[in-house]
Amino acid sequence: MTAIDEIAPDLFRLSIHVPELDMQFNHFLVRDEEPLLFHAGLKAMFPHLRDAVAQLIDPATLRHIAWSHFESDECGGLNEWLQIAPQAQPVCTLVGKLVSVDDFSIRPALGMTSDDVLSTGKYRYRFYQSPHIPHGWDAGVFFEETRKTLFCSDLFHHFGDPPPVTSSDLIAPTRDAMKQMQNGPLAGYMPYTRKTEGVLKSLADLKPETMAVMHGSSFTGQGDQLLLDLAGVIAENFDQP
Ligand SMILES: [Fe+2]
Ligand SMILES: [Fe+2]
Repeated sequence: MTAIDEIAPDLFRLSIHVPELDMQFNHFLVRDEEPLLFHAGLKAMFPHLRDAVAQLIDPATLRHIAWSHFESDECGGLNEWLQIAPQAQPVCTLVGKLVSVDDFSIRPALGMTSDDVLSTGKYRYRFYQSPHIPHGWDAGVFFEETRKTLFCSDLFHHFGDPPPVTSSDLIAPTRDAMKQMQNGPLAGYMPYTRKTEGVLKSLADLKPETMAVMHGSSFTGQGDQLLLDLAGVIAENFDQP
């Protein structure tokens, strides 16, 4: 049920496709001295994800469980992970910690603010606050500096059960997904503000070489142009009267 792929050295994508939604839910495990899981996943997916992680590391050795914004697909299974991994710590934005997480979580979170760095051994995660991008006051993204990997959450989300990683342009499938979502009950899920373009430009300036996408294929290649193009697609779909 869970597809496991190493999409870059030490970076594993654990993917569950939900046929009813025709959507992948992707979780990323980084194997390091202090293993990190990006996206705790839905609570209902926890048994499947735990078994998948167990094929790669002892789940009890997980040390960091990080995500972008407080939603069930990002962190619904957090407490299940914290129960089996006694040294694991939730990692999110300071806003997320103060507004939601420390009430929900069985252990307090590490609240990150922009330019905070989390080192897990070989890898270094620099944190960027990105309020309302992709959505949520508490949103943020992580950039792993040594391999230039951007953990970008719902940015570039697209439907289907596509391959784990692609170097093709993700803009067309993202545009299609936005149009489909905007015609359904979840319309309005991503705001466009005067800050949107600037935030995406600052992420483009990082020149990511891998982008770990929560719903759909991850991207390998020059991510900067994609991030700049994404601003236009968000405007096209969400900057509407
Ligand atoms: Fe989300
Ligand atoms: Fe999501």
